[in-house]
Amino acid sequence: MKTERLIPTKENIKTAGEMLRNGKIVAFPTETVYGLGANALDEKAVHAVYDAKGRPGDNPMIVHISDTSQIRHLVSDTPQNALILIAAFWPGPLTLVFNRSEIVPDVTTGGLDTVAVRMPSNETARALIKAAGRPIAAPSANISGRPSPTTAEDVLEDMDGRIDAVIMGEACTHGIESTVVDVTGKVPMILRPGAITKSMIENVLNSVISYDPTLLRGKDGDGNFRPKSPGMKYRHYAPKAKVRIISGPEAKSLSMINELRREAKQRGVKTAILNYGDDSRRAAKDFFSDLRACDRDDIEIIYVYANAADDLGFSVMNRMLKSAGYDITVVEQ
Ligand code: TXA
Ligand code: MG
Repeated sequence: MKTERLIPTKENIKTAGEMLRNGKIVAFPTETVYGLGANALDEKAVHAVYDAKGRPGDNPMIVHISDTSQIRHLVSDTPQNALILIAAFWPGPLTLVFNRSEIVPDVTTGGLDTVAVRMPSNETARALIKAAGRPIAAPSANISGRPSPTTAEDVLEDMDGRIDAVIMGEACTHGIESTVVDVTGKVPMILRPGAITKSMIENVLNSVISYDPTLLRGKDGDGNFRPKSPGMKYRHYAPKAKVRIISGPEAKSLSMINELRREAKQRGVKTAILNYGDDSRRAAKDFFSDLRACDRDDIEIIYVYANAADDLGFSVMNRMLKSAGYDITVVEQ
């Protein structure tokens, strides 16, 4: 298959919209990460996305819309909390999980009774969804298990020859995927942390919400992650290199990293260090693309230093832990 590179002109957006209507799969920029889009109501097209990614079929997709009016076709009810969150954060990096309507096929929701919906703030993304005239199912546009793509070049690295087209848009501003919030229960629950944080949501709802308990696994009371965190069966966001996270006071942590690097070098192992300090914005924006850059340099071990204590830092640490298979060392004060 030849993958068309489309610069985001009006003409090309129209062409890409037609492609989506005709069952083709097209990657496009969003403010979070690049998505791989298909008509969410077309089972065959959604299957093609799973195939291109090599993604397990029980992992549900987020349905992207360009206008809030599209939502009522996709869901069976819109809880009051959802309306408040939509008014506050859409368009933007927030995905809401609703009870689904009949028209959403099983393949899109992974067989669940719920559907995840999001309206991206990226103008190109919304123009494309509008041009398609259909809700667009879009997982991150990477091979399953690899770091999410934050540039069109990252998408091509994984997907060239596997998908119909890529919109060659700008680099993503946030760099980690949207916050996913289940609004079907009495108390909304964050299933995946992102740029829209727990405290931002609590502020607009004027009430306390919860985290999916599995997000807190490996995290102790004072906000540090312990190395004894249970291992995960497989890695997500994984580069070819082994990833090791070091967290704690800066000077001590960096000297530990330098010591580890010296030892690795003596064994002829090629290493790199990603140092984000306490800058959670930069960590979010750069982490996935830095992992990909390390792969291109044939790095074998990546040491990550991150020490942000804010909410966004928590969201980025969620990605870091998965990419490291929960290999983290917390340096004591
Ligand atoms: O920022 C994003 O959300 C990006 C861009 C492209 O919009 N998309 C994205 O999609 O990250 P994906 O497929 O890589 O991740 C979707 C996440 C998965 O963790 C999936 O399990 C969850 O959303 N999800 C989707 N539908 C769900 C549902 N009905 N209930 C619970 N979780 C759901
Ligand atoms: Mg993904």
